[in-house]
Amino acid sequence: MSVVTFPQIAVIGARGRDLETHLGSAGMRVTSMAASDLLALAHPSARPSQVVIIDLRDASVLPPTVAVLRRNHPNTAVVLVVTHLDPTLMLDAMRSGVTEIVPEPLTQSALEAAVGRVWNAQEPDNAGQVIAVVGGKGGVGATTIAVNLATVLAREAPGEALLIDLHPAQGDAALQLGAEPRFSVVDALENTHRLDEAYFRSLVVVVKKGPDLLASSDRHVIGSPGADRVRALVEFAARTYKYVVLDVPRTDLSILDGLDNTQQVVIIVNQELSAIRNGARLVEALSQRYGKDRLILALARFDKAAEIGTEDIARVVGLPVSHVVPNDYRAAVRAVNQGQPIAMGEPNKLTVALKSMAISLAGLRPPPVEAPPSAGLLGRLTLRRTSQVL
Ligand SMILES: Nc1ncnc2c1ncn2[C@@H]1O[C@H](COP(=O)(O)OP(=O)(O)O)[C@@H](O)[C@H]1O
Ligand SMILES: [Mg+2]
Repeated sequence: MSVVTFPQIAVIGARGRDLETHLGSAGMRVTSMAASDLLALAHPSARPSQVVIIDLRDASVLPPTVAVLRRNHPNTAVVLVVTHLDPTLMLDAMRSGVTEIVPEPLTQSALEAAVGRVWNAQEPDNAGQVIAVVGGKGGVGATTIAVNLATVLAREAPGEALLIDLHPAQGDAALQLGAEPRFSVVDALENTHRLDEAYFRSLVVVVKKGPDLLASSDRHVIGSPGADRVRALVEFAARTYKYVVLDVPRTDLSILDGLDNTQQVVIIVNQELSAIRNGARLVEALSQRYGKDRLILALARFDKAAEIGTEDIARVVGLPVSHVVPNDYRAAVRAVNQGQPIAMGEPNKLTVALKSMAISLAGLRPPPVEAPPSAGLLGRLTLRRTSQVL
């Protein structure tokens, strides 16, 4: 059975408990509100649920507030429950932007289907962007890149970027962000059936000036979460955040199989033969599963003097090298030891590369040219040299 996530649902003006009972039996969690609450929900400053079900079995006409609600909150879908399908009410509903009307006799399957239809129809508008990062081999710098992409995107959209460390156990993202999570991705994966915004937010840690983090677990986890759960988690996260970055373990096939809702999968290699060979295998497998268009190749810890160059890598892997992240071991280690991502530190070649990579992946404007600190004539000469290299 596939695992699905459900929207937050508010039931308004329910006549009895039948609506809640049916939705509850379908695994959906609902909040009940009085008919008089509709006005407050429709206000532009309100944050209504993703789906609002209005019980109109005691009403003969559509309340005008429904049109206001749809206008002010286009991402909130509305389902009406009525005694019978009255043509005038149906026309009013259509004009107000309501597409689902469920008449009596009320059944669980009719309600479930109506909620499913409005929920799926909404998806393209309100889903955030998901970027997955996976290394060709351990140690190539994949986690560092994932952490810094999420950090840059959090700067762009404070409170709207999430990093998920998909390593069920002993992932490093929390360390790099200096975060001390109480809960982990394992809690989220074990509870995909009850994910709602409040519960999800209780699992993530908020990193000051950084992304929210759903961290790896520090207990040993045996077994794999399964692709369905990964898919459900990522789908839910994308509904809740504008940007979601995934730090993906390359060895767990079920996780690699659950990346359907990911727009870009960034494969990280360095100039080591083993990383490149594994990168090529990964690209082959992922392009069969998701198509090549979603795949992006990045070269990390770049060393200009290394024997293998970017063209060799592109040829072997079968993708152009779209991003190059310079090697700066000292800066990388300092960042981990201080629990402060590289992108938060002083501008240098590494921070500039990470920022422009994040901005370009997210389809945002090109980054402003950020000059390393300069001092007098010497600084200006260095600056000129640096910008030529970049
Ligand atoms: N651009 C870089 N330059 C130099 N060292 C780096 C760079 N990125 C990461 N490192 C270092 O490489 C090691 C592995 O990094 P990590 O991001 O954990 O890799 P992975 O997730 O691929 O295993 C760490 O010691 C880290 O500090
Ligand atoms: Mg890692």
